[in-house]
Amino acid sequence: MDFQSKLQETASFLDQIKKAKPRVGLILGSGLGVLAEEIANPQKVPYREIPHFPVSTVEGHAGQLVWGQLGGKTVVAMQGRFHYYEGYELEEVTYPVRVMHELGLNTLLVTNAAGGINPDFHAGDLMLITDHINLIGANPLRGRNVASQGARFPDMTEAYSKELRVLTEKTAEELDYSLQKGVYAGVFGPSYETPAEIKYLQTIGADAVGMSTVPEVIVAGHAGLKVLGISCITNMAAGLGHARLSHDEVMDTADKTKAKFLSLVREVIEKMV
Ligand code: HPA
Repeated sequence: MDFQSKLQETASFLDQIKKAKPRVGLILGSGLGVLAEEIANPQKVPYREIPHFPVSTVEGHAGQLVWGQLGGKTVVAMQGRFHYYEGYELEEVTYPVRVMHELGLNTLLVTNAAGGINPDFHAGDLMLITDHINLIGANPLRGRNVASQGARFPDMTEAYSKELRVLTEKTAEELDYSLQKGVYAGVFGPSYETPAEIKYLQTIGADAVGMSTVPEVIVAGHAGLKVLGISCITNMAAGLGHARLSHDEVMDTADKTKAKFLSLVREVIEKMV
């Protein structure tokens, strides 16, 4: 079965079970899956029940789509995402984004846990992603281009919507939340970076580093979705902090910021036109 037919099968399966057409898609990163629990009147669909959907394996990822109301809008959230380092192909990693596009939504909100590189950052900060640097050594658009899905050479000048960034900054100000801004470097993982690699990332203009998001945002841009990206700085990157890095620390900090994260996300969704 070709990619397009699979996609249509997945979308029509979801079309049959969902109650309302989603407006906004959410991808919830490590430790941030709890945000899906705030969705009202939730309809939950485990990935394993969705035709052609990959299944997630990482600890802290529940692996289901959650449908419902958040900030007065119908949203569909991915509670658990797929990472390249898990062994999935980029086509699989980004499959849910294609599905979301097929379902007719026009805005994608991506969240992730990231290591802070900018020396002004602290663990627990939220960072509005202004741009990214693709360092995974691959691109999800490699291969034959299907014109109905997007252009062969999509523009990435505004991979993260200016309009949504302005809205998010304004919302954070109203909530009296400090919000960092910066460039997200997407690396392959799963080992954390060495201090030398972090020095290099700092030199090339990165403010934060993580192992996700970039493939999804490239595909979202290709599909013409508006993207908003927010990172939770769960730790200072290797060589900048006080201690060794651990997944437990990442999950722990993400957990501590969830109230702030959630109210920001909810308010922003509410204000989206
Ligand atoms: N590096 C890469 N990915 C991450 C980090 C980090 O320091 N923290 C959370 N995700």
